[in-house]
Amino acid sequence: MSPANLSDRLAQQRKLISTAYDPQLVRDAGQRLIASLVTHLQTVQAGQGQVLNWQPPTENIALATERLQQADRAPELNADQLTARFTELIEQTLQHGQNLHHPHYVGHQVPASLPLAGLFDAVTAITNQVMAIYEMGPWATAVERAMVHELGAAIGFTPGKFSGLVTSGGSLANLTALLTARNVTLGDSWKTGLAHSQLPPVLVTHAEAHYCVTRAAGVLGIGTDQIVRVPLDRQRRMEPAALDRILIELRQRNVPIVAVSAAACATPSGAFDPLVEIAQICRQHQVWLHVDAAHGGAACLSPQHQHLVAGLELADSVVCDAHKMLFIPALCAFVFYRQHEHRYAAFEQVAPYLFDPSVPGMAEFDNGITNVECTKRAAAMGLWGVWSLFGRQLFAALVDVTLDLAQQFYRLLVEQNDFQPLCQPPCNIVVFRYLPPTLRDRSPAEIDAFQLRLRRAVIEAGDFYLVQTSLDGRSYLRTTIMNPLTTAAHLRQLLDCLREYGQKLLP
Ligand SMILES: Cc1ncc(COP(=O)(O)O)c(C=O)c1O
Repeated sequence: MSPANLSDRLAQQRKLISTAYDPQLVRDAGQRLIASLVTHLQTVQAGQGQVLNWQPPTENIALATERLQQADRAPELNADQLTARFTELIEQTLQHGQNLHHPHYVGHQVPASLPLAGLFDAVTAITNQVMAIYEMGPWATAVERAMVHELGAAIGFTPGKFSGLVTSGGSLANLTALLTARNVTLGDSWKTGLAHSQLPPVLVTHAEAHYCVTRAAGVLGIGTDQIVRVPLDRQRRMEPAALDRILIELRQRNVPIVAVSAAACATPSGAFDPLVEIAQICRQHQVWLHVDAAHGGAACLSPQHQHLVAGLELADSVVCDAHKMLFIPALCAFVFYRQHEHRYAAFEQVAPYLFDPSVPGMAEFDNGITNVECTKRAAAMGLWGVWSLFGRQLFAALVDVTLDLAQQFYRLLVEQNDFQPLCQPPCNIVVFRYLPPTLRDRSPAEIDAFQLRLRRAVIEAGDFYLVQTSLDGRSYLRTTIMNPLTTAAHLRQLLDCLREYGQKLLP
């Protein structure tokens, strides 16, 4: 390319770049965005339209790809055309998604998030406040530290003695906490790996621990074969006496124990482990207690429900997801260490280009030292913003209202002769089956397959969104009341909807 052509091309590229960064375009697009979002929330929250906009993945991928290719082919757009195209893309996004704010959304443990939290997230996303070291995102770091402090104190940890961090999701949070447990328990394992351990170490878990806990055993080199699952009682909680027997036996054989991982609450059933008794047993045997409170940890903010997590403050490490029961957009997960001195135990690394040795006190505020991530989004911004607007009572209200709805739903199920709840729900996770008389004398395999087919039909039609679970090898329908705008009337409609589709599917 000749110098003249090169210079022309660079001038054109600069023009394109300056359009992409134009604050006026941000204003025009932003105004359209807000209008579209508000209409969407009004429609969806009023229960209009479908919950899940079901389309087979290949069709959605084709549509998304077409948008990219259109832009590559099209001539450069002016500001008005860009704003119009932006609006189309936003509308397309809203029309093809999962509508968690619809009161018929009773599915996974992902909430109808507090919309204002998303606006706070937008500020840090647009201004790109990130964290590895304090100077990259001073306010984002401060916000995160303030949240760790408040939430840790609400759990019951002693201010000044505990520490914590924020990371991208419960899976990474559990991995980080269990890595810390491994390093503290097995001495030199960060440097030497596990090869020097005379006997292979084990991870002792709730029998129905979330798969990310068992996955962590694989990632950390413990091995999934080295997971010891503690039997559950009739309410599917870890049985303390069984845990005690297991730990006695492991200690007698000198098997290194990385940690006991308890659940508050367990994903499939919502069961909360008896943490006070479990903590006492772990202390007796000098074993690290980790509690996966990704879902249930938020109960600590509700005076009515904090009894569910009594004993959380006795754990060595705790995980709590704000993008579950604190109703914050994904992802925002907390790891807490009861003892401040464990905060650096996960990673022992030197990064001279990042951490400035001339101000050693500053390292205390550099998240890169305690987190898997180097560059990390300002994940706690939405939580901090909403808490700073409404106070902690909003989170107590969200926990109380959704747990109360689950009890109402349970009572409704008990009153029906064609539905069968698994048990009274310990939180907002309700497990049940549709069992009309014609299905009852079918084989267990047929009954199970029917639950799955029924769910599929309902979610693809978009009338309700619920999930399935498997317990003791049997299939169930499972709802998590993650939308505080759902009412008892909606839950009655859910039963009618399941009946309607069930009758169509029954052979
Ligand atoms: C108890 C529990 N732990 C961990 C996780 C994983 O969290 P995330 O999806 O944020 O990675 C879940 C997710 O549902 C969960 O229920």
